[in-house]
Amino acid sequence: MTTVYTEESRALGVYARRGVTLVRGENAFVWDDRGNRYIDCVAGHGSANIGHANPRVAAAVATQALRFTACSNVFFNDARSAYLDLLLSVAPAPLERAFLCNSGAEAVEAAIKFARHTTGRVEVVSTYRAFHGRTLGALSTTHNPAYRENVGPLPSGVTFIPYNEPAALTAAVTDATAAVILEVVQGEGGVHPGTREFFAAVGRACREHGALLIVDEVQTGFGRTGRMFAFEHAGLEPDLVCLAKSMAGGLPMGAVVCSARIVATPGMHGTTFGGNPVCCAAAQATLEFILETGLVDAAAEKGEYLGGRLAAIASPRIREVRRLGLMVGIDLREKARPSIERLQNAGVLAMPAGPTVVRLLPPLTIGYAELDRVAAALEQVLTT
Ligand SMILES: Cc1ncc(COP(=O)(O)O)c(C=O)c1O
Repeated sequence: MTTVYTEESRALGVYARRGVTLVRGENAFVWDDRGNRYIDCVAGHGSANIGHANPRVAAAVATQALRFTACSNVFFNDARSAYLDLLLSVAPAPLERAFLCNSGAEAVEAAIKFARHTTGRVEVVSTYRAFHGRTLGALSTTHNPAYRENVGPLPSGVTFIPYNEPAALTAAVTDATAAVILEVVQGEGGVHPGTREFFAAVGRACREHGALLIVDEVQTGFGRTGRMFAFEHAGLEPDLVCLAKSMAGGLPMGAVVCSARIVATPGMHGTTFGGNPVCCAAAQATLEFILETGLVDAAAEKGEYLGGRLAAIASPRIREVRRLGLMVGIDLREKARPSIERLQNAGVLAMPAGPTVVRLLPPLTIGYAELDRVAAALEQVLTT
């Protein structure tokens, strides 16, 4: 029998649980408490790009934890400085400074505050199907009504426009717009990649009206889409980039990386745990691992390979497969949850993105043999 420990009765019921207790992970595999092994395409909700229990991250965490674990941001810190140097070395110009925090929603909150503070404007333009997090400020830019019910009022000043509609975007951005916020591939909203035309209109409108561009790379950052950051596919020049998830090998960490346009003053924002030395050491080891193993290019190649395997599945139940790198959405002509359950029983963990999309976010370190097994399991589930 599966042990659910005390979580089922003790943890507040905000999650739809999957009935499995995971106890161990190694690279792209996880094991439950009964010894069953799964190929993990949930990967901590996209936070395990470099695989579970990566030895390099484990060593960095252990070393730093024995050295120094809590350092206020009013003091400089060697681990934090080293990480900022490395992070900014992979951030394209004109990104040149970063604010470190602890999660994706916090990064979005901070980016909105920085944008309003810098421009002296209030209005923010976001998109339908966008997901930017669940704290009140981030939620004000997140579209799905199910997440917004009964928790308002949310901060005002946010307008939503349809994603991938350049004319709607152009009409919505004015001289009162502080920022446009968008994902390069909408993740939770169903794995919808943006178009070149849409991004060109975003760049034009922001330039014309002096609005800032916030790109939310919380899910797409650190190689997921086959580039270090997804906006590099898109020809965008963001002023603020939100990062989290895979930043620190699975440990909680987020960041806003900013251009020189962003004005910040002491006391206008801050966090106790942001830039924590242990998380910085983990993030340093993570990014070094990504760079030294060529993981970004590998993600592009593996994504191509998996895309080919998925395209070969002949099932009338598949409406469309959408993908950028190893960010994959299989849009079904039916509810996704039953297929996700059957995949789990077949040893593959996947997650939904909206009601009809089966989403795969495997570790970028996953092997080709495992990609074959994921494709085979999907074929079996979607053709029987
Ligand atoms: C694009 C995007 N932004 C923000 C968030 C929120 O991140 P977190 O859950 O770390 O607060 C998510 C989480 O899925 C996300 O996908």
